Amino acid sequence: MIKKCLFPAAGYGTRFLPATKSMPKEMMPIVNKPLIEYGVDEAIQAGMTDMAIVTGRGKHALMDHFDMNYELEHQISGTAKEALLNDIRDVIDSANFTYIRQREMKGLGHAILTGRELVGDNPFAVVLADDLCINEEQGVLAQMAALYKQFRCTIVAVEEVPREETHKYGVIAGEPLTDSIIRVTDMVEKPEPGTEPSNLAIIGRYVLTPDIFEILENTVPGKGGEIQITDALLEQAKNGCVLAYKFKGKRFDCGSVEGFIEATNYCYENIYKK
Ligand code: G1P
Repeated sequence: MIKKCLFPAAGYGTRFLPATKSMPKEMMPIVNKPLIEYGVDEAIQAGMTDMAIVTGRGKHALMDHFDMNYELEHQISGTAKEALLNDIRDVIDSANFTYIRQREMKGLGHAILTGRELVGDNPFAVVLADDLCINEEQGVLAQMAALYKQFRCTIVAVEEVPREETHKYGVIAGEPLTDSIIRVTDMVEKPEPGTEPSNLAIIGRYVLTPDIFEILENTVPGKGGEIQITDALLEQAKNGCVLAYKFKGKRFDCGSVEGFIEATNYCYENIYKK
């Protein structure tokens, strides 16, 4: 039912310089697959067919990745290496890719608003490729798409984190509906230590109803002088319903070097070698 998935991918990835000087951070490979392809796989598994990518300067490699490379196809056609292209061929055949450029870096909320033209008046998912989520049975987006069918409102994925880490995330508070679903009543972007409303951190998976765009248009810059999706979501929660979902699965913060290495080791042992 949710067909569109938005990938904000305009950021610079400064933590991985110099690797990200001329290569998009979303193209950093976890073993042999770029981060963004893991996110696209997850969206396809959740039944989504339209991948809308918000890009920026110097991100051509993203577009080339999700396109045919005739020269390469020609060179390895009929050789043993051909099988290595099977996965990405399937991805390209299973989805449409559209792109829009975010000209200025004004925050995640602004990036999502930039994707409005691609998403239209439809509920849509958002994947932050930095957060690599792995669950063998059912991916996190598929879990969230199923919940959306039931509740028809905005859903954010959350995870319990140690209190001293909450300042790195959007943090929610609310009323539990079940063991894994919370109705959000409060939300703070990167709270000052000691002021966090809980230890439930938002991770980079969202299902958003399209009224979020109107709210984002009127959202003033917040934390760090940027337009924050967290602030817009709090507004949405006040007037309607926003749910937080404690997802099943593992999540790696591939925006940090430690998380990236952890994800690499995990995927090497549990996916690549199998
Ligand atoms: C963004 C969001 C934050 C969320 C995080 C998840 O922050 O603003 O609310 O918790 O993604 O990864 P960023 O990591 O881009 O600073």
